[in-house]
Amino acid sequence: MKKILVTGGAGYIGSHTIVELIAAGYTPVIVDNLCNTSTQNIDGIEKIIDTKVKWHNVDCTDKDAMDKVFTEHGKIEGIIHFAAYKAVEESVQNPQKYYDNNMGSLEVVLKCMQENDVKNIIFSSSCTVYGMPDVLPVDENAPFKKAESPYGETKQICEEMLKADTCNSVALRYFNPIGSHPSALIGDCSADRPSNLVPIITEVAIGKRKKITVFGDDYNTPDGTCVRDYIHVVDLAKSHVLAMDFLIRTPGQHAFNVGTGIGVSVLDALKAFEETNNLKINYSIGPRRSGDIEQIYANGNLVKTKLGWEPIESLEQAMKSAWDWEKQK
Ligand code: UD1
Repeated sequence: MKKILVTGGAGYIGSHTIVELIAAGYTPVIVDNLCNTSTQNIDGIEKIIDTKVKWHNVDCTDKDAMDKVFTEHGKIEGIIHFAAYKAVEESVQNPQKYYDNNMGSLEVVLKCMQENDVKNIIFSSSCTVYGMPDVLPVDENAPFKKAESPYGETKQICEEMLKADTCNSVALRYFNPIGSHPSALIGDCSADRPSNLVPIITEVAIGKRKKITVFGDDYNTPDGTCVRDYIHVVDLAKSHVLAMDFLIRTPGQHAFNVGTGIGVSVLDALKAFEETNNLKINYSIGPRRSGDIEQIYANGNLVKTKLGWEPIESLEQAMKSAWDWEKQK
């Protein structure tokens, strides 16, 4: 069974990917320092798969600790590198923290790969690398525009670091991941107050917040609110398994969009949550959020052709699972 080292494997997207890797016959090893998640996800993974999973409490920027992990595990077929900070607003307030951690951890991972003859890496990138694209749906050949935040810059620079390296790589450019595993045993365990749309909606639904502010209704979109491409996290997790299969048989450097191709406005998303879960969400329209782009959604042709990946889950299934997670977490 092929061993895959998964940094950030206890996090939101990481934990879902661990479940899918095991289902596909890989043996994952988690490296996670729990800086923005909890052991709840590791317990959840073990309940879903009904077996123990190997986990190291290690910071990926710590080269000595990473060396020990590589030595302990012998032959590793590939790395999936999730470990990174992801709060856009915090990255504006404290860019250095983002540069140090997000580039620093990839640097250590690439060094360890070289020293241990590991050839394959899947990298967690983001559609944020495109900025506000000129053409929609955006495809992988669109140029990187000036990033809207230091967080976005780190994703652009990490992709450049991969290009400058000799390893085989796939950068997966995620659109907006939402929802949770249908078991509601794993999800976003971040201790931070959420700043993303769907976790804020679920907090309003459960009464942790009084209301949600829709950031602007004067955009040049069908209903005036921003348009995004919301992708179910289980579908997203599966794309990592297909990307690893692909990379093992197709050495080189690759980048793929992972989105549904469907543009959904903020008001559409609110309505989908309300209708699916039979709930009313208290909201008001507020000013635009600085740094928000008007609209972005994926051209998914390349990922479909090359990886055979297509989204399966609906927006409604994502909204149901998001609510199930909020109720039990
Ligand atoms: C951004 C990045 C994404 C990154 C993510 C991490 C882009 C295109 N995307 O996603 O790569 O991984 O941050 O956090 O840069 N909204 C409201 N009210 C709220 C919260 C959000 O109206 O209280 C709206 C936003 O204006 C936006 C949409 O909901 O239109 C989604 O926002 P959010 O969930 O924060 O994700 P992005 O900003 O799209």
